[in-house]
Amino acid sequence: MSVQRTLVLCKPDAVQRGLVGRIISRFEDKGFKVAGLKMMQVDEALASTHYHEHVEKPFFSELLSFITSAPIVAMVIEGENAVEVVRVLMGVTNPQMAMPGTIRGDFGLNLTKNIVHGSDSAASAEREIALFFSPDELHDYQLSIEDWC
Ligand code: RTP
Ligand code: MG
Repeated sequence: MSVQRTLVLCKPDAVQRGLVGRIISRFEDKGFKVAGLKMMQVDEALASTHYHEHVEKPFFSELLSFITSAPIVAMVIEGENAVEVVRVLMGVTNPQMAMPGTIRGDFGLNLTKNIVHGSDSAASAEREIALFFSPDELHDYQLSIEDWC
């Protein structure tokens, strides 16, 4: 068993459309724990660092202007194999192709406005969590239901 932490962002469209509560519930319902949670406005510097792997891509400027356009809700989700399982719960990148039952499959239609971000590997998760959260914003605690999940 490998307990991991991963970064999830409820993107500006999720906040504007009032989907944040339902997105958090998807992770809580699955049995994951919220280890950190905050609303914030992403500036260009943070957005560029976070999405550095896409800097040469044709969609980079659209991605940057979208993610900086309005507040997001950032969270750290913790649990067994959290990195991969969170990506499964999110669905594939293009919401039009994402399976019903996934977050993107249920809530989105637009490749840029695709509702959520989730770290794509354990290494990305470590890097991204450190970008968005300081150590004192992350919480170690026990849930009484943990043995049952
Ligand atoms: P994310 O990083 O946001 O969790 O999304 P992802 O891993 O599923 O997809 P990624 O390849 O990392 O792409 C980052 C974001 O860029 C936008 N995108 N646009 N126009 C395009 O071809 C295109 N491809 C990707 C998406 O909004 C994606 O979430
Ligand atoms: Mg990605």
